[in-house]
Amino acid sequence: MAEYWYIAEGFEEKVQSFLTNNGESEVDMMFTVPEKDFNTAGKGSSEVKNLLKRLGVESGVLRRIAVASYEAEINVAAHSQGGVMHSAVFDDLIHVRFEDEGPGIGDIEQAMVPGFSTADDLVRELGFGAGLGLPNIKKNSDAMHIVSEKGSSTLVEFIIFFA
Ligand SMILES: Nc1ncnc2c1ncn2[C@@H]1O[C@H](COP(=O)(O)OP(=O)(O)O)[C@@H](O)[C@H]1O
Ligand SMILES: [Mg+2]
Repeated sequence: MAEYWYIAEGFEEKVQSFLTNNGESEVDMMFTVPEKDFNTAGKGSSEVKNLLKRLGVESGVLRRIAVASYEAEINVAAHSQGGVMHSAVFDDLIHVRFEDEGPGIGDIEQAMVPGFSTADDLVRELGFGAGLGLPNIKKNSDAMHIVSEKGSSTLVEFIIFFA
């Protein structure tokens, strides 16, 4: 299994402390993300955004969460055989996790390069496949983690703090 970690500068301690002792989440939400269904993909992100808006999360932070979760959700629909999106809202952060049914990412470093895409014609015709989704998740997250390998499932997760 290959693994990729990104932690934004200055967030190392906060992220470490969350990972070692994440208490009970306030709200949990689960959505299934079916393969190549771009009407359903995006619903999870939009519901999460609505919830956080009601909870009073600041608009700039809200936008970052919406962008990161939308890109990850679209990736599950576009590149995998389907999966689930799970989001856990804590006092001070959101942790969003995507787990799919494979076929996995052979080279995660390459997948992270802006412009790299293996999107098929159908996905491109629908306007996806610019190769900017993973870089965008990184840009908008305080921490991002990918675990995958060819022929296996993919885990993509990120953490964004509310303040
Ligand atoms: N969940 C996933 N399962 C398998 N491959 C993925 C997944 N997410 C991303 N990838 C791979 O990483 C590449 C880059 O992803 P991304 O930056 O979002 O660009 P795009 O989705 O436009 O191709 C994809 O083309 C694909 O090869
Ligand atoms: Mg993408």
